[in-house]
Amino acid sequence: MLVLLMMLGATQTYAQSVRAPGNAVNLDDGIEEGPSNALGDDSQSDFWRNFRGGDPNDVNQMISALPEGAVMTTTGQHWRKFREDYIRKYAGWFPLGVIAILLLYHLIKGKMRIPGGYSGKTLPRFNINQRVAHWFMASVFIILGITGLIILLGRPLIVPVLGKEVNSVLTSASMQGHNLFGPLFILALLWMFFKFVRGNFFQIVDLKWILKLGGFFGGHVSSSQFNFGEKTWFWMVVLVGIVMSVTGILLLFPWLVDDLRWLQLSTILHAVGAILLISVLFGHIYVGTVGMEGSLDSMLKGQVDENWAKAHHDLWYEEVTGKSATDEEGTS
Ligand code: HEM
Repeated sequence: MLVLLMMLGATQTYAQSVRAPGNAVNLDDGIEEGPSNALGDDSQSDFWRNFRGGDPNDVNQMISALPEGAVMTTTGQHWRKFREDYIRKYAGWFPLGVIAILLLYHLIKGKMRIPGGYSGKTLPRFNINQRVAHWFMASVFIILGITGLIILLGRPLIVPVLGKEVNSVLTSASMQGHNLFGPLFILALLWMFFKFVRGNFFQIVDLKWILKLGGFFGGHVSSSQFNFGEKTWFWMVVLVGIVMSVTGILLLFPWLVDDLRWLQLSTILHAVGAILLISVLFGHIYVGTVGMEGSLDSMLKGQVDENWAKAHHDLWYEEVTGKSATDEEGTS
């Protein structure tokens, strides 16, 4: 009797395990089944076509708004696949690639020293307003970057190491933090824009900076208050920051749009923009700290050494002091 019951149980388990998944066609009776056989044998192909949002081959239908009542769309499937197969899979490699290049550069070239060393004489570079705007942006951005990466990459990176429970707690906390700090980013962006836009317009002298590869491989490069690299970083923060802000608002308040595809596009642009900014940020932090002697003083103390100014921003030095950058000792 016991053996008979076990055999019956085994047959049932087998029958469940071979059930057609999702909306696949059941060859026996020609009727499509829903997930978990929710509608039983009453499930019909028309129902599932409507559930999916219509005929996937009908282009007009695909480019029109999401049909009322549809729960699953073909574009949604494509979006999910793109997010899983490309963004989640490769996103982490870009920042890691930048870190590897910077490490290699540092090992080969070392720290960029101030020619002639510190002179002991300083020049004011950033006022307190500019420095607070910069560090406010940096703090908000770093919090958003860390929480955003946990939300995006928690499943493939945290789950295998720390488990589902830890990932769940970290992701929920990150979500709350991200939602809270997101609006502050918009504030930080506006503040930073107005405090730094002056001096960040591209000039002819920037072409020389590009041709000399920014002086990173030797040679002196002339530059005004900000060089081409800094200006590019500034405009990247502003433009990509606007994309991040708009897409972030849509994701925070999804009822602002009536077509789900705006939200799908927003998640993609938001993730790509974030990866771009985070990757370039590593380069910015490198040059601002260990990469270039004397740089960090400008953002910490608001003052820079005169020899640093002559070496890296000679045109700006001449503009603020009225002296030639090449006249005195210790200049490049
Ligand atoms: C720990 C992180 C950071 C460090 C150590 C750092 C360091 C610096 C330093 C030293 C400067 C002054 C460069 C100079 O005097 O020419 C600077 C400027 C600047 N930083 Fe940062 N920074 C950090 C994070 C950020 C973040 C997160 C952002 C934006 C998302 C940012 C955006 C800027 C901008 C826009 C400028 C002005 C450059 C220009 O206007 O062209 N920084 N940073």
